[in-house]
Amino acid sequence: MGAQSLTVTDNRTGKTYELGIEHGAIRAMDLRKIKVAEDDFGLMSYDPAFMNTASCQSRITFIDGEKGILRYRGYPIEELALRCTYPEVAFLIVNGELPGARQLNDWTWQITHHTWIHENIKKFMDGFRHDAHPMGMLISTVAALSTFYPEAKEIANPETRRLQIVRLIAKMPTLAAFAYRHSLGMPYAYPDNDLSYTGNFLNMLFKTTEVKYKPEPALERALELLFILHADHEQNCSTNAVRSVGSSQVDPYSAVTAGVAALYGPLHGGANEAVLRMLQTIGSKDRIPEFIRRVKEGEARLMGFGHRVYKHYDPRARIIKRMADEVFQVTRPNPLLPIALELERIALEDDYFVSRKLYPNVDFYSGLIYQAMGFPVEMFPVLFAIPRTSGWLAQWQELLADPEQKIARPRQIYLGAAQREYVEIGLRDAEQDEFAA
Ligand code: CMC
Repeated sequence: MGAQSLTVTDNRTGKTYELGIEHGAIRAMDLRKIKVAEDDFGLMSYDPAFMNTASCQSRITFIDGEKGILRYRGYPIEELALRCTYPEVAFLIVNGELPGARQLNDWTWQITHHTWIHENIKKFMDGFRHDAHPMGMLISTVAALSTFYPEAKEIANPETRRLQIVRLIAKMPTLAAFAYRHSLGMPYAYPDNDLSYTGNFLNMLFKTTEVKYKPEPALERALELLFILHADHEQNCSTNAVRSVGSSQVDPYSAVTAGVAALYGPLHGGANEAVLRMLQTIGSKDRIPEFIRRVKEGEARLMGFGHRVYKHYDPRARIIKRMADEVFQVTRPNPLLPIALELERIALEDDYFVSRKLYPNVDFYSGLIYQAMGFPVEMFPVLFAIPRTSGWLAQWQELLADPEQKIARPRQIYLGAAQREYVEIGLRDAEQDEFAA
């Protein structure tokens, strides 16, 4: 095998094995030939949170966590954020290339003209309690879409796949906005095809009695930028959920539902909501040292800090922090901002955070901006799910096209009881009493 290989000696048997190395990885299946006896199952690797396991080969997003680099399809995030619209970036992520002018027109037309949802979905939403969390509503309604488009099951058909991708990217803002209006008890505002992707989303959220809603350009652009920054992030928890569920060859609505559910958790898409609650609890700058002490003693977590991959300042956080000033010029400044800035300053000078390479992540400032724009905290993970849909779908497509992928089915290390004698129910109380005595 030569230089691109790893030689392993099994000290249990003294045997030596040579494992191939490709793209800086060994194939876990190659470990299976390492056995202590002919009938041995073979060696496995144990990696409960995928800390060092590549689950796929991908051409979509590149991250260098040590250097703080993020690229979609090879383009630096900073450049895309500065120059592109979200639909343009979604096209890039899904199709692999930036669209030409004609392609972009066509793509934008399509995702503008698939924004409407079946009236029965609206009725379905009406069934939720008035205070239902919009993320719970989004999970349910995305799943429900699969029942409206049964042809989505034909995942081997490229045209069917393309149409569902367009539908999902187009309808996600509508579902999200309707969930928001439901929570306010307000009538749903229908999509306006004259507006941009984010302008229309603002229209569906905030339109009241005006005949034509005019989005505030600075907020429309800020949302666009936030959408671009959140569009994909390689194999994170929700993307892994989409790939894992998608590997059963289910329709894309059901696979994306798994992603939305994963995003609901406070360690993933719910983190910016947790950041705001943390800043509210801290309440004032003079209470920051006390909070930092609690974090260091393990009683609290500094939300919006730390990342599995970034061991440097998250490049998305840097862009968002710069954008915050522009947003606060048209909204009222967020009173929690000075607390956040001071918290960041103190944490970045503290050895606890420095030694663990804990830097602000994308969620540290995004919540402050969303709040200033008038979004309630419950909407924050929803605002993450909308743009991430293009990433999930690109990853789902890539999974389907990859001949090496099969249904995802991890192994386990069984540590439970060996075979036991069945005990009749009448004898179990006595057995338990004996055990407790
Ligand atoms: N506050 C305090 N300590 C922390 C934090 C934090 N936010 N994050 C990590 N640590 C400590 C952790 O206690 C551990 O210390 P020790 O070595 O002494 O046990 C060390 O740093 C390594 O942490 P870890 O838990 O092994 O790291 P992880 O890769 O498993 O977790 C994380 C990554 C993002 C879940 C975690 O950093 C965290 O909980 N951060 C706060 C939640 C957050 O902001 N999440 C948003 C992530 S970015 C958006 C997204 O992609 O969804």
